[in-house]
Amino acid sequence: MKSRFLTRWMVLALMCSASGLWAQEAFKIGLILPMTGQSASTGKQIEAAARLYMAQNGDKVAGRKIELIVKDDGGVPDATKRIAQELVVNDKVGVLSGFGLTPLALATAPIATQSKTPMVVMAAATSSITEASPFIVRTSFTLPQCAVAMGDWAPKNGMKRVVTLVSDYGPGLDAERYFKERMQLNSAQVLESLRVPLRNPDFAPFLQKVRDLKPDALFVFVPSGAGAAVMKQFLERGMDKAGIKLIGTGDLTDDDQLNDMGEGTLGVVTAHHYSAAHPSALNKKFVEAFKKANNGLRPNFMAVGGYDGMRVIYEALKNTKGGQGGGEAMVAAMKGQIFESPRGQIYIDAQTRDVVHNMYLRKVEKKDGQLYNVEFDVIKDMKDPGKSK
Ligand code: PHB
Repeated sequence: MKSRFLTRWMVLALMCSASGLWAQEAFKIGLILPMTGQSASTGKQIEAAARLYMAQNGDKVAGRKIELIVKDDGGVPDATKRIAQELVVNDKVGVLSGFGLTPLALATAPIATQSKTPMVVMAAATSSITEASPFIVRTSFTLPQCAVAMGDWAPKNGMKRVVTLVSDYGPGLDAERYFKERMQLNSAQVLESLRVPLRNPDFAPFLQKVRDLKPDALFVFVPSGAGAAVMKQFLERGMDKAGIKLIGTGDLTDDDQLNDMGEGTLGVVTAHHYSAAHPSALNKKFVEAFKKANNGLRPNFMAVGGYDGMRVIYEALKNTKGGQGGGEAMVAAMKGQIFESPRGQIYIDAQTRDVVHNMYLRKVEKKDGQLYNVEFDVIKDMKDPGKSK
């Protein structure tokens, strides 16, 4: 497999660069996303962001036309893997990107390795993903980043006895573990760690259990798109009135859904890397342009992962004169990139290929008649705490 790809790459490079054809050959970016199913909002946000990036930055880089090929995997790992294989073998994409959920990224990692194709993870956020292939570069975030930030904030703010509730798979287990460790370090306690199934979860029995335990707070991680259901049931059961605070990673108060979740969300504190209300000039421009291009849709953290992922690809193409040197040269040119994102300053750690960025503490507030995650504190330039384990 390895040598076949190597040979194909060398022949193509010889043919194209010698004849000047290189510049005319389109550079293809495969964007694999869940456009249907439970995580369809992730696909919609990332595709919109990638298209916005191209509209703003042109569809030609270093003389090569950029072709974006968007494919729907429905959130099913076998489909992601099959599509990735087809994109590499048949379409000869120069980059694989997207990956809306951890299992989808992990299923594709061996294909990136075997074909030496850079794989830009724009959504999935389990810490270990970047270790699954040396061709993976991540522009989303990691759950340990958020969980550590919350595990420091909660005990300092009167929440010493907390129950955790997470989706029972990679990112949820990361959130649970790193939150608990940090609480313990701060002499606080996780009373119980509850795990709900990823697919079609019924939160009711879990929330009942939380009520019975009477913690100071409930810490939640559910993936983008599932937050509204948790919030609804939390409020319906009057848990806020029973004195249980709701905290979590910012996936819970996802900008994609927040405005529809209602005023019961006011005051919910979360830790995350992006809020549509981030008060920078660049973000204001980004939010405005995104809304304008998408019928008023508010961008969420998934959109920003996609937008920044495209930036990383474009910059690598510029630095390799249109992708000369193949996948290895492209990944090398992605490492160490540092730039201002709508989320703030971001950096691709050259050692880990993972994203380094600010972690913000945010509280849901009403601004101009709309609900937003308003940032009130920041931990600067946070690396993935999962990498030192
Ligand atoms: C993941 O599966 O890694 C994932 C998905 C959605 C999120 C966070 C993590 O919001």
